[in-house]
Amino acid sequence: MQAEHREVPVPSGEQVEIAQAAIGFNFFDVLQRRGLISENEPGRVMGIEGAGRVTAVGPRVTDFAVGDRVGYLKSQGAYAGARLIESDLLFPLPDDVSFEVAAALTVKGSTAWLCAVRLVELEPGQTVLVTTAAGGVGSLIARLAAHRGARVIGSVGSDAKRKVARENGAADVTVGLNDAIDQVAWLTNGNGVDIVFDGIGADTANRLLESGTVRKDGTIVSFGAGAGFPRADPDAIARRGAAVLAPQVPNYVQTASDLRGCMAKVLALYRAGAFGEISPTVYPLSEAPLLHDQVERRAVSGISVLVA
Ligand SMILES: NC(=O)c1ccc[n+]([C@@H]2O[C@H](COP(=O)([O-])OP(=O)(O)OC[C@H]3O[C@@H](n4cnc5c(N)ncnc54)[C@H](OP(=O)(O)O)[C@@H]3O)[C@@H](O)[C@H]2O)c1
Repeated sequence: MQAEHREVPVPSGEQVEIAQAAIGFNFFDVLQRRGLISENEPGRVMGIEGAGRVTAVGPRVTDFAVGDRVGYLKSQGAYAGARLIESDLLFPLPDDVSFEVAAALTVKGSTAWLCAVRLVELEPGQTVLVTTAAGGVGSLIARLAAHRGARVIGSVGSDAKRKVARENGAADVTVGLNDAIDQVAWLTNGNGVDIVFDGIGADTANRLLESGTVRKDGTIVSFGAGAGFPRADPDAIARRGAAVLAPQVPNYVQTASDLRGCMAKVLALYRAGAFGEISPTVYPLSEAPLLHDQVERRAVSGISVLVA
């Protein structure tokens, strides 16, 4: 990554110009920069999520005006002080939600909502395992599950992150997948947890199925790819009699109305306290390379945002 100066063209058609107040950092950005999502394109502006104020609108924009507060979740080109974006990719940002909270919660909050509300029914008294319980999405899912009255077992990658997982509502914290498998067996009398939310990916679902870490008739929601894209073997799923879901937010949030409806639900959860206090770590945009480096060394926890 390198910083450079570019002029923002005058918006045309349904384009909107935004002065960006906060930019969401996502693990996706690291995967993309490393060429694991798609081929690297020279000159590509990193980032897919941000929040700010409308500063100009194209001639066919009807739903936003100069001065409006807005956010977006899936438009390449977020690591910038200002940018153009199609108006149907924006949602209106209410005055009671800061730009930093919006940049923290748009992708990660909608993922947490999809995984832990839309796709499964979390009930008080259930036991859930959240891997990457100190990461961005993992933090929000752990907090949401604890808020719903579930008993949360959090798994993290190092001792240093134990405290963060506890602050995210985990009653028990394990370090590494082997420890998670052993602790779940012990804590559930060998029955397994009701639901696993997994951000590690690669062969994690297979290991959780084969070890009985998810209960029979339970569910693994495989949302992330910290160690590689998730693969679950249909035979392992069948042998355990469990379900494995692999949701991707862009497949559920496709239209402007999907986006605005989803964000209304995410912000309602935030206002109801389901995500607890959101206070992301803030980096200047010029330090994006440092943030990526720290994330790749697994030295970062919680949610990070960039400010221009
Ligand atoms: N399904 C969707 O629609 C959707 C939407 C958004 C994000 N995601 C995915 O969700 C995951 C989390 O995203 P995020 O933005 O919240 O990321 P994040 O805050 O950077 O968290 C990623 C976590 O992954 C863990 N990790 C990193 N490298 C690992 C490795 N080699 N082996 C095992 N664990 C590793 C780290 O936890 P420890 O160091 O504690 O192990 C870290 O806390 C990413 O894989 C992202 O692509 C999916």
